[in-house]
Amino acid sequence: MADLSTVLVTGASGRTGQIVYKKLKERSNQFVARGLVRTPESKEKIGGADDVFVGDIRDAGSLVPAMLGIDALIILTSAVPRMKPGFDPTKGGRPEFYFDDGAYPEQVDWIGQKNQIDVAKEAGVKQIVLVGSMGGTNLNNSINSLGNGNMLVWKRKAEQYLADSGIPHTIIRAGGLQDKDGGIRELLVGKDDELRQTETRTIARPDVAEVCMQALKFEEAKFKAFDLASKPEGVGTPTKDFKALFSQITTRF
Ligand SMILES: NC(=O)c1ccc[n+]([C@@H]2O[C@H](COP(=O)([O-])OP(=O)(O)OC[C@H]3O[C@@H](n4cnc5c(N)ncnc54)[C@H](OP(=O)(O)O)[C@@H]3O)[C@@H](O)[C@H]2O)c1
Repeated sequence: MADLSTVLVTGASGRTGQIVYKKLKERSNQFVARGLVRTPESKEKIGGADDVFVGDIRDAGSLVPAMLGIDALIILTSAVPRMKPGFDPTKGGRPEFYFDDGAYPEQVDWIGQKNQIDVAKEAGVKQIVLVGSMGGTNLNNSINSLGNGNMLVWKRKAEQYLADSGIPHTIIRAGGLQDKDGGIRELLVGKDDELRQTETRTIARPDVAEVCMQALKFEEAKFKAFDLASKPEGVGTPTKDFKALFSQITTRF
């Protein structure tokens, strides 16, 4: 049997991170799975196995045990905007959002991701996959005004830090995430938010998770950054050839 690759997914109790953690466990002939979550409650939520570590990405020291000996890291942590109570959709208007103290995008999406990259590098990681978001080329994107967090700005700063790190990496800038089945749509890669100008700018979370997994397998995915979306179900051919998908990407950032 080929050597197994030890892969840590962070944000392992998050909506996409959970799927990656599950896929890693299912492919035990290729991977030794590890997950990182923020709290013991989150650890329980995903089964409480010994391969789930508890740590806070804002505290670099707390990440060391999870990172020791890993071959690859998949970053699926993110600041989470919370809706202010009292919003009544029947009255129209837009909900307002806020971030918990200390959990603004600057602390989570920038410092938190940077800590992960630094600790993983120190631990000798060979590849890092980072999931970010489409929309970052436009400072006026409405996501930046959520809770005054400038979320896409801080995410992009972390992406740049990874790109400059010298570590083989894959930066996936996902379109609008949907909780739908994966593996049944044609995936689209793009650059510079061009897909946002089209009708095809969403992607199912399981498809994002699968692209993270496949990025670990192909050289064609390394030192690349790209936007990711999919055609609607029933249009085009469901993507199976990920080497070909990654080969289409020409952008390094
Ligand atoms: N929503 C969209 O439409 C959309 C579109 C494009 C891209 N994206 C991006 O895609 C990625 C995945 O999104 P998702 O919706 O699957 O994620 P999610 O469910 O919001 O999960 C984020 C995870 O990060 C963890 N986390 C937050 N702060 C942490 C900390 N200080 N230490 C350790 N863990 C921490 C959270 O843990 P706790 O729950 O314990 O806090 C949670 O498990 C994110 O980067 C997101 O911004 C989202």
